[in-house]
Order: sequence, then C-alpha cells, then structure tokens
Amino acid sequence: MATRDIGIIMNGVSGRMGYRQHLVRSILAIREQGGVLLGDGDRLMPEPVLVGRDEEKLRELAARHGLDRYTSDLDSVLSDPAYPIYADFLVTKARVPAIRRAIAAGKHVYTEKPTAESFAEALELARLAREAGVKNGVVHDKLYLPGFLKLRRLIDSGFFGRILSVRGEFGYWVFEGDWQAAQRPSWNYRAEDGGGIVSDMFAHWNYVIENLFGRIESVYARAVTHIPERVDERGKRYTATADDAAYAIFEVEGGAVVQLNSSWAVRVNRKELVEFQVDGELGSAVVGLFGCKIQPRNATPKPVWNPDIPDAHDYAADWIEVPDNDPIENGFKTQWEQFLRHVGEDAPYSFDLLAGARGVRLSEEGLRSSAEGRRIVLAPVEL
Ligand SMILES: NC(=O)c1ccc[n+]([C@@H]2O[C@H](COP(=O)([O-])OP(=O)(O)OC[C@H]3O[C@@H](n4cnc5c(N)ncnc54)[C@H](O)[C@@H]3O)[C@@H](O)[C@H]2O)c1
Repeated sequence: MATRDIGIIMNGVSGRMGYRQHLVRSILAIREQGGVLLGDGDRLMPEPVLVGRDEEKLRELAARHGLDRYTSDLDSVLSDPAYPIYADFLVTKARVPAIRRAIAAGKHVYTEKPTAESFAEALELARLAREAGVKNGVVHDKLYLPGFLKLRRLIDSGFFGRILSVRGEFGYWVFEGDWQAAQRPSWNYRAEDGGGIVSDMFAHWNYVIENLFGRIESVYARAVTHIPERVDERGKRYTATADDAAYAIFEVEGGAVVQLNSSWAVRVNRKELVEFQVDGELGSAVVGLFGCKIQPRNATPKPVWNPDIPDAHDYAADWIEVPDNDPIENGFKTQWEQFLRHVGEDAPYSFDLLAGARGVRLSEEGLRSSAEGRRIVLAPVEL
C-alpha cells in the first residue's frame, strides 16, 4: 500500500500549544507511527513546514527534531501547492487575518480555539471556508481527556438515565509573577491582547456541553478580574484588564442545568485541575482529567441531616472507580488523525469553524450576560 505525503503549514509552532501539543505530541508522533492509516490501506504522512516570526527559533526547533523545512515568510508557503493544510496556533488576536489569508489561498484550515475574538469574525471565517469549499477543523481536546472519554461511555451506556445537572470546577492558582513567575503567558490576562478566561474556557465548554449534554439554550455568567495587577515575562508590572474567573450557569436542551466555575485565582482542593459532577436519575459520576468514579442509584447512601452528631459516614468511599479499559492516546493527536482523514478521504468531521463560532458566541454572550447582569437566550447558530 502507498504512503501519500500531505504538507502542513504549522503557524505559531514555537508557542506553548504549537510546539508541545501540535508539533511534538501530534504531528511528530503521527510521523513516528508511520502516518495515518486510511480506509483504502494507504497511509497519509504529514510533512510539516514550521512557520513563525523568528527564523532563528524555527531553525533551532527544526534541527532539534530532524526537520528541514521552516520559514518566516507565510505567503511563500501559502502559495505553495505542496502544502494543502494551514494550521494555526497563534495568539488568538493574530488568528483571524492569518486564517483569512489561508482560506483565500485555498488551504484547508485546522486551528486552535478560540477561532476569533468576536462572534461576527468567527462566523465570517466559517462562511469564507464554506464558500471556498475548503475543509476546516477546530481543536476540541477536552472531549479526549481520559476522564471525559469515560463519561462519554457512561452516557452512551445509559448509566445516568435522564441527566439532571452538572457542576464543574476548572482552574488553579496562576501566580501573579511578582515573587514566582506566572505559569501562563501574560497576554492571557490582557483583554486588549485577546486574553480572558471567558474567551479561553467558554470556547471549550461549548463543545464539551454540546457533545455530552446537548445544545446550550441559555447562559448566565459573572466574569470578574480578581487579581488586578500582574507581572509579565520581562518582570514589568501590568494591569490585568481581562477576566480571570467566571461563574456560569448554562441551560441545556432537554432541561439539564450545567454550572461551571472557571478560575485562575483558585487554590485546588479536588483531585484534578478539572472536575465535573454529573447527577442523573439513575446514577452520578465525578470525572476529571484522568479519573472517573460513579455511584449508581441502587448503591446510593441515605444521609439524614443531624447537626447534633458528627457524621461518621465516609461519603467518598461510596464511589466506584471506572477502569480505563482502552489505551489512552493524546487527544491532540487523535484530533489531528481525524482531521487528516477528513482531508485525505473525506471522513466525517463535525468540529468545524461553525462549531468554533458557536464557542466564540458563547464567550461573547457570557461576557454580555456578566456586563448586563442577566441570563441570555441562545438561538441556534446558522450560516
Ligand atoms: N486547546 C487548549 O487547551 C489550549 C490551551 C492553551 C492555549 N490555547 C490556545 O492556543 C493559542 C496559543 O496559545 P499559547 O498558550 O500557545 O500561546 P503562546 O504565547 O505560547 O504562543 C503563541 C504563538 O503565537 C505567536 N505570536 C504571538 N503574537 C503574534 C503576532 N502578533 N503575530 C503572529 N504570531 C504571533 C508566538 O510567536 C507564538 O508562536 C491561543 O489561541 C490559545 O487560546 C489552547
């Protein structure tokens, strides 16, 4: 069987996500395993060209991984038919103009989220891609976290019956940068640079909720900036103009209520950095990045409220751990394999720029809800 090369323009590959998740853990890992197997037995082999602003950095990255193609001239590769795919890992602010250029050059597009800073621009990208007839995909990595894959399995097996509610906690303390360096890039805390936890995390929550629980019909959110001043990578103080925490309620088609707290100003007192509790008529589950534990209806304890006697019952011990059962793959790699099959053999793919636009709409309406102090009803999004 034949191996077919497929050139990928990897823009922003020196960044945190571009380098670690997309280049090393996805594209290089796919190359190491011999490409992506297609239905006809052929293999699709990704051939990346590294793109960024700093040629020296790219040269160093390419040498580190035995790659020989890199450039700081995006147009030179956009006009090269050897690269049918454009992939974008830039800071959010730089994304829309770059993707517009890629679509105009007839490239298929794969991108980090959020796809844009505004819903109007996100929708415009989806429309442009449709008009140009190019394939398009947006990362949806949280669905591939081992804990969330187990949740998917539980839902598919009918474990919950009707899902009543979901409560989620996401976040951890991001250092201010004064006496300990911050562990996330400073642009995330400046609204003018595309930062903000609503724009960052609601783009994830949209596809997580849509794909696990149903279409989001309304949002109520309170977004705040708890830490007003931070210190950047160069040791310079700056005003944190973006929200660093959001407390939100999403109502989902079918009646489930999803409450999610997202915060860079919270200290972790849970097993994992993200944790969702799903309560259904027939059972409940608590899922994290890796773990998933369940409590079925017929093994549910019967607590009685009594403030006079200390409660000796160990509630945590009532839960059953769900086994992995299957080997765990890196989610970014799995998404890339799906997208490459979508491009290479037209395999179905639903996480497109329109799905990305729904995520951006949720962020925008979440911020509007917070500013206006009211619940916002969300109509279905159409092109
Ligand atoms: N899927 C996820 O879980 C996840 C997690 C973190 C970040 N992200 C998203 O990934 C994207 C990149 O985030 P990151 O944390 O890797 O950031 P980063 O700051 O580490 O990297 C950003 C990249 O963009 C480049 N860049 C910066 N400003 C630019 C400009 N003006 N023009 C062109 N290029 C520019 C940088 O050189 C770098 O290569 C963001 O959109 C972010 O929302 C996604």
